[in-house]
Amino acid sequence: MDKLEDTSSVYDFDPITGNIPATKVEITVSLCVLYTQGVETKQWREFGRTEVIDNTLNPDFVRKYILDYFFEEKQNLRFDLYDVDSKSPDLSKHDFLGQMFCTLGEIVGSPASRLEKPLGGIPGKKCGTIILTAEELSNCRDSGTMQFCANKLDKKDFFGKSDPFMVFYRSNEDGTCCICHVNHDFIGDFTTSYRELARGQSQFNVYEVIPAFSPFTCVTLLSFSVESEFTFLDYIKGGTQINFTVAIDFTASNGNPSQSTSLHYMNPYQLNAYAMALKAVGEIIQDYDSDKMFPALGFGAKLPPDWRVSHEFPLNGNIENPYCNGIEGILEAYHQSLKTVQLYGPTNFAPVVNHVARYAAAVQDGSQYFVLLIITDGVISDMAQTKEAIVNGAKLPMSIIIVGVGQAEFDAMVELDGDDIRISSRGKLAERDIVQFVPFRDYMDRTGNHVLSMARLAKDVLAEIPDQFISYMKSRGIKPNPAPPPYTPPGHTHHHTQI
Ligand SMILES: *[C@@H]1O[C@H](CO)[C@@H](O)[C@H](O)[C@H]1NC(C)=O
Repeated sequence: MDKLEDTSSVYDFDPITGNIPATKVEITVSLCVLYTQGVETKQWREFGRTEVIDNTLNPDFVRKYILDYFFEEKQNLRFDLYDVDSKSPDLSKHDFLGQMFCTLGEIVGSPASRLEKPLGGIPGKKCGTIILTAEELSNCRDSGTMQFCANKLDKKDFFGKSDPFMVFYRSNEDGTCCICHVNHDFIGDFTTSYRELARGQSQFNVYEVIPAFSPFTCVTLLSFSVESEFTFLDYIKGGTQINFTVAIDFTASNGNPSQSTSLHYMNPYQLNAYAMALKAVGEIIQDYDSDKMFPALGFGAKLPPDWRVSHEFPLNGNIENPYCNGIEGILEAYHQSLKTVQLYGPTNFAPVVNHVARYAAAVQDGSQYFVLLIITDGVISDMAQTKEAIVNGAKLPMSIIIVGVGQAEFDAMVELDGDDIRISSRGKLAERDIVQFVPFRDYMDRTGNHVLSMARLAKDVLAEIPDQFISYMKSRGIKPNPAPPPYTPPGHTHHHTQI
């Protein structure tokens, strides 16, 4: 084998143009070509190639790929492995050894962000395994806390003294500062650097304010401390699991499931809105739940045998074990329960929110974070109780996603979302924002039959989760566990790849 020309360069990766990635993730791939898939077009694009390693069955590649990581997107990846026999960059001139499909979330969500999977692509042949590891590129994550005091400032107010405050400007790389117009009286300014400030309280951190009002006009640094900020991926890598629970609205306002006008209509050829919302969100979140067993609840239906109304029943009918196997398992249990329960009412959210909160309250050490997906047609009956449940939930490791299906007015949902006005109950303000609401119809075409983009729906409902997650961990002073020790490759049939 000959060394392939260095064709591996880092292409610009923008799954949806204009996005700011949550973070960058570095991928090292061994002996293979990495493809990424366009979110809208579904087209595979070559992202880059590794170097060629001579004459080995266990290549351990050095070249890494740098991808932008978005928690809220399903970032499909494909790794093709080749045996390279000539200098030609044309892949069809080389022997195909196998391929593997996965998502970036699957890699970063694996224990220690290390994913091992068999290679496929050649029928009837065992192609070996591929091992991928992901490493988050550390941006600057230090945050500094400083305290200052000032002495003998100029008196600006005609009556009384000054009401001083300090404004920080960071100079740009070229030395310019952004200009900011404020309608206050300027007292003076001074310039310093991070390096100076990091020396802490000392004679070097007493600054003369220019123009000086008196020889004693100065600002003094009293304290300076720096703390490292942790990222969502630090916690995931340290073993924090996302516990994903689904709650589905079985109230009568959805319409009779046997009729095509019903939001629960079971069309053999097309998923209904409930199933679509569930699939779009679930397929992304499942990457962060290692056992892929998901509790699924229903609310607002009458249940056999005694036809009592229930606001928190397991979709699979098993109170002891409400888990469904994967997203497919939830869909199956959902369809099954549509055949057995009677849609009724009212639409109460509080019971399912409190249900998840009970579990979240039992695990406050950062090892689990709970995400409840409520899919509803939106006419909520227990607003006061739900607000109370959310205010309580905001103290716990949990987030709530509400997807509204159908044509109802969703004003109450927007209020629960609390993006504009933080939600409160009986005079208590929620400690964090934990609710994200989206109306499903915003993602449908004009006929109301076709979803324009499941990817966009998932993106919009999931975008706030990493920040909500971090806000909980930070407020409780929970640090991520150290990741398990780095993986050392064994000396046998592996195509070793690092992401
Ligand atoms: C996840 O949360 C649900 C409650 O919504 C609970 O039934 C289940 O036991 C939890 N799973 C784990 C592994 O703790």
